[in-house]
Amino acid sequence: MQDLTYEEGYACWLRYHAVEDEPLRQSYLRACASIAMPGASTVLDAARRELSDGLRAMLGTAPAPASAEDASIVAGVFGSDPRLGAKSLTGAEGVRLDEDGFVIRRSIDGPIVLAANTERGVLYAAFRFLKLLQTGASIERLDVTDSPANRLRMINHWDNMDGSIERGYAGRSIFFRDGRFVEHLSRIRDYARLLASVGLNAVSINNVNVHAAETRLIAEDLLPDVARVADVFRAYGVRLFLSVNYAAPIELGGLATADPLDPEVAEWWAERAETIYRYVPDFGGFVVKADSEFRPGPFTYGRNHADGANMLADALAPHGGIVVWRCFVYNCLQDWRDRKTDRARAAYDHFKPLDGRFRDNVALQIKNGPMDFQVREPVSPLLGGMTNTNQLMELQITQEYTGQQRHLCYLVPQWKEALDFDTYARGEGSLASEAASGALFDRLIGGLAAVSNIGDDPNWTGHPLAQANFYGFGRLAWDPRAAADDIAREWIRMTFGGDPQVIRVVSDMLLQSWDIYESYTAPLGVGWMVNPNHHYGPNVDGYEYAKWGTYHFADRQGIGVDRTVASGTGYTSQYHSPRSDRYESLSACPDELLLFFHHVPYTHLLASGKSVIQHIYDSHFEGADRAAELLARWDSLQGAVPEATFREARERFVHQAEHAKEWRDQINTYFYRKSGIPDAHGRTIY
Ligand code: GCU
Repeated sequence: MQDLTYEEGYACWLRYHAVEDEPLRQSYLRACASIAMPGASTVLDAARRELSDGLRAMLGTAPAPASAEDASIVAGVFGSDPRLGAKSLTGAEGVRLDEDGFVIRRSIDGPIVLAANTERGVLYAAFRFLKLLQTGASIERLDVTDSPANRLRMINHWDNMDGSIERGYAGRSIFFRDGRFVEHLSRIRDYARLLASVGLNAVSINNVNVHAAETRLIAEDLLPDVARVADVFRAYGVRLFLSVNYAAPIELGGLATADPLDPEVAEWWAERAETIYRYVPDFGGFVVKADSEFRPGPFTYGRNHADGANMLADALAPHGGIVVWRCFVYNCLQDWRDRKTDRARAAYDHFKPLDGRFRDNVALQIKNGPMDFQVREPVSPLLGGMTNTNQLMELQITQEYTGQQRHLCYLVPQWKEALDFDTYARGEGSLASEAASGALFDRLIGGLAAVSNIGDDPNWTGHPLAQANFYGFGRLAWDPRAAADDIAREWIRMTFGGDPQVIRVVSDMLLQSWDIYESYTAPLGVGWMVNPNHHYGPNVDGYEYAKWGTYHFADRQGIGVDRTVASGTGYTSQYHSPRSDRYESLSACPDELLLFFHHVPYTHLLASGKSVIQHIYDSHFEGADRAAELLARWDSLQGAVPEATFREARERFVHQAEHAKEWRDQINTYFYRKSGIPDAHGRTIY
């Protein structure tokens, strides 16, 4: 009988299926008979435990402890044993490995060597080595050298202390319950393992909207609990961050102001930082949502965001902490009658003029698109727009606008498009991923951050296949060049084992799912069309007359937002040429973003040759049909995946198929009624 945690998906991709191919198992066993790991520390202990548990599960026997001279696996920090000499392992010239990089080497019949500059690197090497076995690779000869592209690889939780999760679709918080920290930390430990296994190294545990209870996370009464959680993460090489309330000096400190230029305020934060570091010596720093959606910030005092961020940065600098300052700043009290104000412009307009004015330990966290994690948006022009400021790209793993973990939507292909986007900031080939990592502008801090999709559901993510998004984010944060299909296949293999039918069916489903979801929801990049507040399900005019700045401007003639310089909001000018020219031009603008940049008649012909209205009808009919096929494809896997996983996902595919029809019919009906143009194929529209 399979164990319950596997059945329910708790182990995720760390299931470590027994190797069934006997000759392969024998060869693995010979190669992994014994192990030596010089040194002792919590991180090395974690690496040792992972190797031992993982190998035992896959091979039936754990490697025996041995001396380094005799061991078949030698793992540790460079120089901690003669077999771990940096020179001999990285070549005479020495391969440049950063603090988290590692090597895995084996020459024919020699021992397997896992080595790194740091203990964390050794832990990553251990997980990578285990993955080789999980995916059935040959380990007869090994020559792996790897370093992460991003220094910061971070997860942001939007968890509140009452246990709720803002935009959470997989149960309650694993950190908090009823206003307190959870008592038992074993689940957090298992979570830390998952993070480390994909190379994630930073986590902020509370919501960016910091309410009264969470404001106190930096107060003395809660810091012991913060420290307990930080200890658990530290053992897996993950640094803990907190989201802070910009008005904390007032709300917590009793000061009259939170003005960043007031010396008393700066003093208060400096003292707070010192106290925090007494409890958490490797504290990562603060995540800040300021002057955004009613959160307090420097604007209240007539100061700008550089003033605001730098003051916090100065408080953290002596301790090695950083400020992650979010750029999600826009006017959320817009008047829908005002067509000049454009929310898409806001982040760039606010932050670009401040380029170069932030401290070195500030990183600006920029959402991948200029709006808010829609199924389709252009890449934010701020990525690559600032050349003199540390940047992080923010992605959303939790499927707020992409089906809320009830619809299947594998987001890795979407993220890949953002990462591979050419910003032209330094001519052709200036990828957004390199603007984010810092490589493009020689910045020291950079990376990716993403909003978590996990909760305390037995399988962590609600939809069992949504685990692939969590895994995929980790993989891309380490290596933005990794391919979406490779990531999908390795995730399936590690999660469900090597059954070729499962790999084929699930990878096809994952890889098509974003396209399917997009095709039955808001068309051609215009976004929104969801129900206000909870953001689930179709509501074409849900935000049309709202203050949030999210419009489609559909009338009986046409639809779309004119963001051109020639006749619209001028947003296209925020991009570097030739990108800006391409978006500005009606004929060169890519179809999938057409309505984001242009207002066009329904009869406008797309590059595909279809009219806009016919595209809307076709994509919605096809999308709903394809959603129904997902259910049939999943049904073909009954018995091939764990029963509980099968059931959990099946319930969701049934719902998705129904809900996709609702989307189809509402969108098609709305545009048929607006335009009066019938479907060329005479299908049912209401
Ligand atoms: C979206 C989301 C909010 C969240 C905000 C943010 O607007 O709906 O729940 O607080 O993004 O990123 O800060």
